[in-house]
Parts: sequence; C-alpha cells; structure tokens
Amino acid sequence: MTQPRNAVGVGHARVEGRLKVTGQAGYAADHNIDGMLHAVIVDATVGRGRITGIDATRAQAQPGVVAVISHLNATRLTYRENPNSNHPPGERLQALQDDRVRFFGQPVAVAVAATLQQAQHAASLVTVAYAAEQPALGLGEGTPNAAESYARGDTTGALAAADVRMTMAYAPARTHHNPMEPHATVAQWDGDRVTVWDKTQWINATQAELASVFDIPRAQVRVVNPYVGGAFGSALRPWPHVIIAALAARMTRRPVKLVLTRRQLYFGTGYRPAYDYRITLGADRRGRLTAMEHTIRAETSSYEDFREAVTAAGESLYSMPNVRIDYRSVALDVNTPIWKRGPGPATAAFAIEVALDELAHRVGVDPVELRLRNEPEKDEGSGLPFSTRRLRECLTTGAREIGWQRRARPGTRRDGDWLIGIGMAAGNYHTVSAPAQARVRLNADGTAFVETASSDMGPGTYTSMTQVAADALGLTLDTVQMRLGDSLYPPTPPHGGSMTMASIGTAVLNGSDTVRRQAIDLAVKDRNSPLYGTAPDKIVVRAGRLTVRDQPGRADTYERLLARNNRDHLEAVGSYTPNDAGQRFSMSAYAATFAEVAVDASLGLIRIRKLVGVYDAGRIVNPRLAESQAIGGMVGGIGAALLEHTVTDVRDGRIVNANLADYLVPVNADVPDLKAVYLNGEDPHMVSLGVKGLGEVVHVGVAPAIANAVFNATGRRVRSLPITVEALQ
Ligand code: MOS
Repeated sequence: MTQPRNAVGVGHARVEGRLKVTGQAGYAADHNIDGMLHAVIVDATVGRGRITGIDATRAQAQPGVVAVISHLNATRLTYRENPNSNHPPGERLQALQDDRVRFFGQPVAVAVAATLQQAQHAASLVTVAYAAEQPALGLGEGTPNAAESYARGDTTGALAAADVRMTMAYAPARTHHNPMEPHATVAQWDGDRVTVWDKTQWINATQAELASVFDIPRAQVRVVNPYVGGAFGSALRPWPHVIIAALAARMTRRPVKLVLTRRQLYFGTGYRPAYDYRITLGADRRGRLTAMEHTIRAETSSYEDFREAVTAAGESLYSMPNVRIDYRSVALDVNTPIWKRGPGPATAAFAIEVALDELAHRVGVDPVELRLRNEPEKDEGSGLPFSTRRLRECLTTGAREIGWQRRARPGTRRDGDWLIGIGMAAGNYHTVSAPAQARVRLNADGTAFVETASSDMGPGTYTSMTQVAADALGLTLDTVQMRLGDSLYPPTPPHGGSMTMASIGTAVLNGSDTVRRQAIDLAVKDRNSPLYGTAPDKIVVRAGRLTVRDQPGRADTYERLLARNNRDHLEAVGSYTPNDAGQRFSMSAYAATFAEVAVDASLGLIRIRKLVGVYDAGRIVNPRLAESQAIGGMVGGIGAALLEHTVTDVRDGRIVNANLADYLVPVNADVPDLKAVYLNGEDPHMVSLGVKGLGEVVHVGVAPAIANAVFNATGRRVRSLPITVEALQ
C-alpha cells in the first residue's frame, strides 16, 4: 500500500522559524571560539596593475595585532586543479599569492588581531603602493564562444524574406545579490584538519575547494553552515575570503573570524554580469515568428570565463524554424560574476519578452495572443517532447487575474496625474537535479532524524524536507528532526538552481521509505507483533503506528517494535541519481507574470500597482513556502526592473554605490499587491516527487512584464534596466 500523504502539500510554518526570529539560529559570523582572532581584509584601490610595495610596519606595531599577511609573507598554496569546487574555467583568483591586481577591491592583505576593532585599525594603517594600469571595463566586442553559440535553419535567409523585421538592443544592468547576511568565515585548524563555519550554498564545493587549495584530503575539511541569511546565488562558490580566513588561521595557529563588510560584498563576491543583447526577429503579419538572431555579449573576469544559460530561451521558448545565437565573452578587469536568481533565463527573458512585446505592438496583435500563436509543440532546440508544459494555462490564468481586458492602447489610460499600463511576460527555468544522499534514522523512542549536507539558504528546506520524511516514515512533523549544513552528513548538490527538492528531497524520500520498510519487515517477522505474518504491502504507518488496512485491531508501534527487538534504531542512507528523463524530455518550470503600473505623466516616477505570477512548477510540497518564494522572486524582479544597478567608475573600476543606501533595492513602499498562483499538478516524469523547481522561475519574466507595462502606460520603450526616472524623461 502507498503511504498516506498528510504533510506534503500542506502549508506548514517553518520548523526553524522560531529559532530564527528569536535569534537562536547561529549564522556563520555568530560562531565564536575561545582564543579566536579577527581578520580584516585590505583591498586594492586600483583596478589593474601590480603591487610595488606593502608597508605594514605601523599596523604590526599596534596593540593586539598578531599578523599582517600579504603576498610578501603568505604561505604558498597549491591550488590543485579541482572539478568539484564550482569555479568557472580559468585559473581562479589566488589571493595573496602574487603581486598582480586583477580588479578594484581585490584582497591584497589581511590584518589579524585579537579584536575586530584592532584588526580594523591595523588594516587601515597598511599602506600599499601600486604600479597602476588602466583597467578594461566597457562591454566591448569580446571573443566568440562556439560552445555557447547555436544555430538552426537559415536565419539570414528567413530574416531577409520576413514580412516584419525588427532589430533591438537590450542592456540589463550588472546587479549584486545583497543578501542580508554578509559572507563570513570562521576557520579553525587542528593539525592538518580544518573546520570552517562558512556562509555557503554548497557545503561540498567549499569543502572540495579548501582541500584543493591547501592540498589536503577532502575528508580533512569540515564545512558547517546550518543557517543562511539569504544568498540568491552569491554563495554558490567559495570566494577568496574563505581561503584567506583559513590561511590566516593556519599561519597564526589560532581560530580566525573574517566577516566581509557590506562594501566588501560588492568586490569580494560575485554579481549578475552586465549583458549587451541584440535581437533581430522576423515574423509574418500575424505575429508568427519565422526567425530570431541574438548577439549576446557577456561580462566576465580576466581570469575566469563565467557563463550561464542565457541562450536556452532563444532556442526553445517559442516556435520558429530559424534561430542563430552568437555568444561572446567579454573579459574585463572585474571580479568573476556568478549566478543570481533565475540565472540565465532572467536576463534572456528581459530581451526576448520585451522584443515580443515590440513585435506585438508593431503587428497589432495582443501580446498574450502573440505568445499563444508562437507556442511550440515540442522543444525545437533539442527536438524532445515536453514532459509537461502548461504555459498556455499560465498565460490565460494570469490574463484573467490581472484584468487583461482593461488594457488600453499605449499612453491612453489615465488616473489623475498617472498614466496606467498593463504588461506581461513569459519565462521558463530548466528543471535540473543532481546526485544526492540523506541518512535517515528512526530512534527507539519513535522519533527520527534526517541528515544531509545541504544548506537551507532561506526557501524553507528544513520544513519541506521534514514534510517529505514525515510522510514516508509515517510520523508526525514534530517527531522528525531535519539536520542540514554539515559536510559530515551525506553529500548533496548546491542549494541552488531549483534542484533541491528533486535531488535531496528524493534522497530523503528514498531513505525514509527504506527505513519504514525495514520496520514493517521486522514487524511481520516478529512473532510477538500483532502484525506477524501480514503481507508487508498491506501495512501503512501513521503517527508511528503500523496498521493493517481494514483490520483496525491489528496494530504495532515503532516504539514497541524496536523495544521488543532490542534495536536502538533503524537506519538507511537514501540516495538519488537522476534517471534518463532529462534525455528523453524537455523539462522546465514555466511562468507568466503580469504587471500593472502607474507612471507619473510629468515626473516619470513609476509605481507598481499589481503583480500576478502564474506558475507551472509541478507538485507544490508546501504552499506557504511556495508563496513566500514567489513573492520574493517578484520583489527581486521589481528591483531588477526599476532600482538595482551596480555602478562602476569607468576610470578605475571602483563600484561607486557599494552600500545599501546608494544601491537601491525595493522596500515595502515599492511593493504592491502581489499574487502568486500555482497550477498544482505533478510532472509524472520528474522522479518520485513530481516537482519541477520553483525558486528560480518565479523571478524570470518579472522585469520584462514591468518594462512592457511601462510601455503600455507611456508609449515609451526603455530597453535597458533598471528603468529609471531619467530614462523616461
Ligand atoms: Mo540560485 S541563483 O542557484 O541561488
């Protein structure tokens, strides 16, 4: 018999919520160790060049100062090649190992002292001399990248023959993640073993990177990170400060804490890169696409070639016979970018979805209808059938929810001083999963715990995993404890890319199923069990009680069963390995976002009045957490559309708004009525849980929906992000 599903699908509150709101959840920087030192990074004040001298004499003479470490005195590190640490192709930034400055803000020294204040003071006294060069910063022509480029059909011919042909350039800005919790590392060595308490979305990658850099076996690196205060992708790889903290601890033979300042987060961690995105599209007079050509120029660093999935949407979101995508990497004197929420598709959707809005306007077809007319029957990029694709339903549901029929011609609807507009955009995010393991243990007292290395960066993984385990074990939620964030637990993929529930969730499910079956097996073979001799598949477990269908009198409990059999626990390690569905089907989560905006006719001020997101994300494990994810994704989209922009000084690469006063993010007053609708329904090809992932897709399409609504309100087309007051002047 299948186990009843009591917890999965229910909107339980976060199991760790109380710990978080009462300050009992310890984040990386909250960890303290007796005798621990504090480290403060000195960062480069030029954008490119060489260090010609470092004077640490005054710094070193200050009270409490233990060391000032730079390339002049740092231990040489091995930086073995390492495929498991999640760095893009390239040489990595080997901090404090040579005299080169590769970007403004690069760590060039670290002051280590007994207190934070002493370390800050010492860092301020270190003087560094440079032979500065002019950094390369503009998005120039770049280098063609054949592996990322793509072509089908005869795009040149089709564009020449198209009834309608349009060329547009789009420029989404470089943006930073700005999580509330700063990146921080506490490092402690014990001989050749190191433990780090580190803000990370990928415990096992940080473990692998430290092993590679310090040339020790992975088993000698422990990474601990039970709570993360938001990350959005910024903690998917270990940044140089993680190595610097471990290096400082090794050299001083003391535990070391290193917390990046808010300003240092802009230089010391990655960001969503800037793109220059050129689109030429060809269509017939009814808005049916015939060809699309993209030229994408993507910002990356001089030492690593960062790439993200910006081409997939062009290949397969809409039906058309001819596509050509020319991808170019532009290596600049900047820190390496990294994935940020909805990585790839979010950027691509801004270009493609605004382009489709422009086409709809040009041919006089309703934008929702235009998308329906270009809906593909299969994935035309890979040739594969869709596992499930309910984008049509997302579009029609969203149109109904926003009141799409009220939409007027651009610039014609007013409410006092305000011009009112409605716009929409579609989007997808590819469903991915990766191998994962989880240990499940049922205790003699009838409680259970589950251990798996994954972080929970905030979406509610503690809670959703507890729900999965509770159902499979036949326990109530409060008797199952989820343990996360420790490399001593079984390994997991990154907590990102919307792959957690499919990957780790399935490992938790499999491990829990195994333990329940072990218990049932024990019961049916136990002469003293009321269930003795029963066929195992007739037994279900609820709230720790094993019962036989239609025979309510015959029951055993985990507690009695384990006691009678002298077992203090039952245990199994569940594992997940992706099946071949990803080779047989095109799998994605889909979104349609609708926005209503008001634009002050004389000032250009934009206010969002309403946002509606409709999602085809497979089974929803916890509707309350899913709602929270969607709202977060929409708020992030408001930021991308109207506010967020990392501004670089073209003279030296300095980020001029590296603080939360000048780098604008949405606040409550910027956020209107938000509505998230999930088309609940499992993807039958998506392993046991039927989930397609939802953390990323909820952000994809928000910015273009708002941009298209601004056009509908004003008749003004803005092709760069963010859309500022100035852009509407
Ligand atoms: Mo997500 S960009 O993988 O944190």
